[in-house]
Amino acid sequence: MRKYKNIVILTGAGISAESGLSTFRAENGLWNNHRVEDVATYEAFIRNPEYVHAFYNEMKPELYRAKPNSAHLALSRLQQEYDTAKVDIITQNIDTLHEKAGSRNIYHIHGVINQAVCLNCYRIMESWGDVDTQTICPHCQISGMMKPNIVFFGEDLLEMDKVDGILRRCDLFLSVGTSGVVFPAAAFVQTAKYYGAETVEFNLETTSNNFYFDHHIQGKAGTTLPAFVDELLQN
Ligand code: OAD
Repeated sequence: MRKYKNIVILTGAGISAESGLSTFRAENGLWNNHRVEDVATYEAFIRNPEYVHAFYNEMKPELYRAKPNSAHLALSRLQQEYDTAKVDIITQNIDTLHEKAGSRNIYHIHGVINQAVCLNCYRIMESWGDVDTQTICPHCQISGMMKPNIVFFGEDLLEMDKVDGILRRCDLFLSVGTSGVVFPAAAFVQTAKYYGAETVEFNLETTSNNFYFDHHIQGKAGTTLPAFVDELLQN
């Protein structure tokens, strides 16, 4: 008899590090080369939309080419094989590596690189191509209103209406490769624990919200997560 009925995994940039993608806060990380205020705030976008579009356009080819690693694949396997539980993935990552690994039930709370949202009609356009201030919304045909569908600092997270419910229901909460400093995602472990979940952290180091984790598994997620999933599937 399997132990868990609702498993939730929160992922951060660390899960994609072994796919060759930069994390945010490491040396030479994404925020090291750019000021957050210039590329990841709504004010920056209104002030200089060309610059902000260019920043995300530049990221697209690398994210398009990136391949899932053994940690993404382990989560996909968990979803397929742990068939007595609903397994949901909440990701802070704007890459699409969970999708590429074949996962489903993915909640992109910080948005996703291959989408733009029209600030006129609020509908989504999917595109791996460049989006800029001339781009015409395919839905309302207005130009100059597309914004990268990335959550900027100060904006509300996406899909929180669903995420809140799954956090309350979960009985196993895994946090993989996130520094736990950006809220509200950093508080998800607290919610899950409050509602009775067992909580496990996978990281290279101890993080700032470690107090809420029952177990810490230190090491590269590409090694530790497949081993953990193997064990879950065997028990
Ligand atoms: P960070 O760069 O803050 O943290 C990455 C974490 O991954 C660190 O704690 C590393 O120790 C860990 N790590 C690195 N390589 C790893 C590996 N191979 N295996 C396991 N752990 C590893 O990235 P996030 O926590 O994802 O938001 O950052 C959260 C948010 O901050 C991002 O989504 C972004 C940023 O501002 C937005 O853009 C809205």
